Amino acid sequence: MPQPDPTIRPLRSDQRSNWEPLWQGYLKFYETSLPAAATDRAWERLHDPGEQMFGLGAWVDGRLCGMVHYLFHRSFWTIADYCYLQDLFVVETARGTGCGRALIEAVVDKALEARADRVYWLTQEDNHTARALYDKVAARSGFIQYRRML
Ligand SMILES: CC(C)(COP(=O)(O)OP(=O)(O)OC[C@H]1O[C@@H](n2cnc3c(N)ncnc32)[C@H](O)[C@@H]1OP(=O)(O)O)[C@@H](O)C(=O)NCCC(=O)NCCS
Repeated sequence: MPQPDPTIRPLRSDQRSNWEPLWQGYLKFYETSLPAAATDRAWERLHDPGEQMFGLGAWVDGRLCGMVHYLFHRSFWTIADYCYLQDLFVVETARGTGCGRALIEAVVDKALEARADRVYWLTQEDNHTARALYDKVAARSGFIQYRRML
């Protein structure tokens, strides 16, 4: 039987109780946790008009099955902003039904609307599931990330 298409909508400020289990699921996927204050701040930023930070949800039959965050930032290389896609997560029971792909495409639409220069994101080298999707919807940049934690 064909799966229903997910409906993609911005995460509203009254939907924290829908979002939080996915956020915590995402942190668990990365075997990490955050202080409650960081989660509070993340949620506030999604709805702060002074921030360029946004969230979208994938809904199937009234249930939030997936989420993605994105933000816009300046670049020295382009006049238009870059759009950074972060925290793509689909609940296990909904995987393989098109939510992940639909969320990425929805961020691309938002970036187009905002006249951004590009959408980009990172993943771990060994995240083969995510990379199977990413290889279908985008090109690998060839860059690797370095970091120093402060
Ligand atoms: C990665 C993730 C977001 C994918 O979401 P999803 O909703 O299952 O992906 P989709 O159903 O939209 O899959 C789209 C494509 O990716 C491919 N794909 C997805 N999961 C796959 C898997 N387990 N094995 C092989 N291919 C897979 C499919 O071929 C599919 O292509 P198709 O539409 O042509 O059939 C989801 O697995 C997830 O939340 N994983 C845990 C968190 C994570 O890794 N997030 C990304 C961090 S960078």
